[in-house]
Amino acid sequence: MNIQLINNETKDFKKNLTIKIITEEKIKKAKFKKTFSKAGFNASQDSYFAMHGKSLLFCGVENYENDNIRSTIATVAKNIKSFDYKSISIEVDDKSIKPIIEGFILGGYEFNNYKSKPKKSKIKNIYLICENIEKLTDVFEEAIIISEATCFTRDLVNTIPEDLNPPKLAKLAKKLAKENSLECSILGEKELKTEKCNAMLAVGRASRHDSKLIHLSYKPKNAKKTISLIGKGLTYDSGGLSLKPATSMVTMKMDKAGACAVLGIIKAVSDLKLDIEVHAFVGAVENMIGGDAYKPDDVLTSRKGDTIEVRNTDAEGRLVLADVLDYAQDKVEADYLFDFATLTGACMVALGQYTTGIMGHNGNLKHNIRRSSTKAGELTASLPFNKYLKKQLKSDIADICNISNKPYGGAITAGLFLDNFIKDENKEKWLHFDIAGSAYTESPWDCNVHGGTGAGVRFMSEFIKNLSTKS
Ligand code: BES
Ligand code: ZN
Ligand code: ZN
Repeated sequence: MNIQLINNETKDFKKNLTIKIITEEKIKKAKFKKTFSKAGFNASQDSYFAMHGKSLLFCGVENYENDNIRSTIATVAKNIKSFDYKSISIEVDDKSIKPIIEGFILGGYEFNNYKSKPKKSKIKNIYLICENIEKLTDVFEEAIIISEATCFTRDLVNTIPEDLNPPKLAKLAKKLAKENSLECSILGEKELKTEKCNAMLAVGRASRHDSKLIHLSYKPKNAKKTISLIGKGLTYDSGGLSLKPATSMVTMKMDKAGACAVLGIIKAVSDLKLDIEVHAFVGAVENMIGGDAYKPDDVLTSRKGDTIEVRNTDAEGRLVLADVLDYAQDKVEADYLFDFATLTGACMVALGQYTTGIMGHNGNLKHNIRRSSTKAGELTASLPFNKYLKKQLKSDIADICNISNKPYGGAITAGLFLDNFIKDENKEKWLHFDIAGSAYTESPWDCNVHGGTGAGVRFMSEFIKNLSTKS
């Protein structure tokens, strides 16, 4: 699908479907109100009505807020694929252009790599009609770049564990580095041993694939700030010896979504050519079972030097992140340190499956991220740390335990475990994003379709854009 920004005058298309967004309020005075009423179309949010005789399609919104526009266009994009038109057109202005582009690209997204006969949409072109192309060019290009980076992340999340194991993820990162002129370094198991990343190595020990620590960096001239992004890249999480029940194991290819998000973000920032230095660190590991598997009762010595009592091998993400966070803090002196991880089922229990959990010590930074996410149309909410929950991670035999001794507040205790590996001087710079619920869906919502959602890419790109002088 090719999206073009065009001028008012060039409107003479053949086999074109014109899309119009309409509210319940406006429908009462609309030209076709009798036809609408006969068809039972009342312009409620996400409803649509096609008048093929006139090559027109109306879609409903509660009001013209961005979230509503994105959602109704996403519904249209999902449902018109079999329509027999060559193109579609819609009028845009400086406010509606972004949600309209997101609706088409993200709502129309399909992952067909494993279908032997994927259905092809007949619609080849989307024309966004505006009065002043020059005025809208920047936001047009920006919305396309961020939406495409989100789809890039979705593609990776949706790829099966056989096709995207840790070495393959490292190879893919190298390719991204080449395409986007990023620096790239990859640590294999030998280097990880030298680095004393024993917690990370333990998680991957029973896998037939080598674990990899991937480091990509985007270094523009005169960078205004430096950001380190750290992603949980469990290319598969079987739970290890604390094996997941069969039904919980399905979808665990998505346990690499944090890694895929940080790759998508560095792609977006480098495509946007923002003057912000960005580092993406990924812990790519597969959590499997076998004679060589790490066990509940093991005590691991992390890169930081703290010992960790393992009581559950399914709480593996935090072990990988403990070492990668420590490595990232030693390698780069960043102004911000953000980790993305499908870390806990408890986050979904706390917030529902649509919302990313934000944890950390810096209230102001959390507030700014919340603002960016509202602007970008992603749901986020803050989960508060407290010292009593921290005590639940005490171990009788080691420095810290990898699970809490109580069944409540699991998203926060996981965040507090990570906090143990954040150096004092970085406490205010760090936030942890639990995307366990928001990164993947089995039923469509908003502009998301079955599979990876690309959670994190839009709100972090928005945040970084605001730090940049280009914004
Ligand atoms: N990858 C899972 C968390 C997860 C669960 C993500 C469901 C997405 C959907 C993580 O490694 C895990 O298994 N966490 C455990 C922690 C527990 C053992 C303390 C969990 O959430 O049950
Ligand atoms: Zn797990
Ligand atoms: Zn996991």
